[in-house]
Amino acid sequence: MTDTAASKVLDRVLVMEMVRVTEAAAIAASRLIGRGDEKAADHAAVEAMRKAFDELYIDGTVVIGEGERDEAPMLYIGEKVGGAKGKGPKIDIALDPLEGTTITAKAGPNALAVLAAAEEGCLLNAPDVYMDKLAVGPGYPDGIIDLARTPTQNVEAVAKAKGVQPSDIIVCVLDRPRHADLIAELRGIGCGVVLIGDGDVAGVIAVTDEDTTIDMYMGSGGAPEGVLAAAALRCVGGQFNGRLLFRNDDEKSRARKWGIEDLDKIYTRDELAKGDCIFAATGVTSGSLLDGVKRLRNGTMTTESVVMRASSGTVRWIKAEHRAAFKD
Ligand code: FBP
Repeated sequence: MTDTAASKVLDRVLVMEMVRVTEAAAIAASRLIGRGDEKAADHAAVEAMRKAFDELYIDGTVVIGEGERDEAPMLYIGEKVGGAKGKGPKIDIALDPLEGTTITAKAGPNALAVLAAAEEGCLLNAPDVYMDKLAVGPGYPDGIIDLARTPTQNVEAVAKAKGVQPSDIIVCVLDRPRHADLIAELRGIGCGVVLIGDGDVAGVIAVTDEDTTIDMYMGSGGAPEGVLAAAALRCVGGQFNGRLLFRNDDEKSRARKWGIEDLDKIYTRDELAKGDCIFAATGVTSGSLLDGVKRLRNGTMTTESVVMRASSGTVRWIKAEHRAAFKD
């Protein structure tokens, strides 16, 4: 087998293996669901994910992680992960071992363990700042949404392409005081606004699933979560725009440190996640995307995960049973 053939096979194996990593993080975090301790839940997920990476034959680099080296003991940006450092395929990884720490602490919906993996240099090294996000599901002409336009203009464009009125469009928005004007504008043109308390990775992905009835996603949230959501949309279709938002000079200098020169740039989906990429997520608590971890009376735990790959467009939904004796 040639090196290239070998690495292609490895790539395919890797798609499935990534689910083990998100499963491990989700199972670990699930012990803390509803316990009111965000930090403990996050820590459990981080530790489990870090350990699970070591089982993979990869030479991985965390490009989006738990923070910078001096502020995160594990899974920090730049950290090398994987069991084949210096030998295995070089993979860049964006991760959020627990997307929805507050959700988990309060036993709310849509907490996920999530990661995206791509060839070296294919994921934007987004600093941990806010990002203005705009997303729409698959099936619309390219460029139908544009962050440079107003929310009303974007809704009108999507409504026209869908063949409905703007008042028929449903938009998902994070429930935050900073979104008061956005929500008022959307309701002013008759849109339905689905407010979510946290978890905008699932919020963005909801636009790709007609069962959610959500047409668009709008508003600001974490930039790392924006890159993760863009990676998911690259695999299943849908359009995404993101613009980094800076609250002070320190945030701007952090962005420059990661090589971002145009601070006002509007990134398209494919500028945030390009090349071949894998997106994997496991539900911690149940929500629109996935069921959460369930602990059955006989000691078995069940998980639901999704793993997708951009180059093939394959989406796999994986329900797994885990024997607690081996996992906990
Ligand atoms: P955490 O898991 O870090 O708590 O993030 C949850 C989340 O809701 C993200 O999904 C979202 O991008 C971000 O927080 C929004 O930030 P803020 O709570 O500051 O509005």
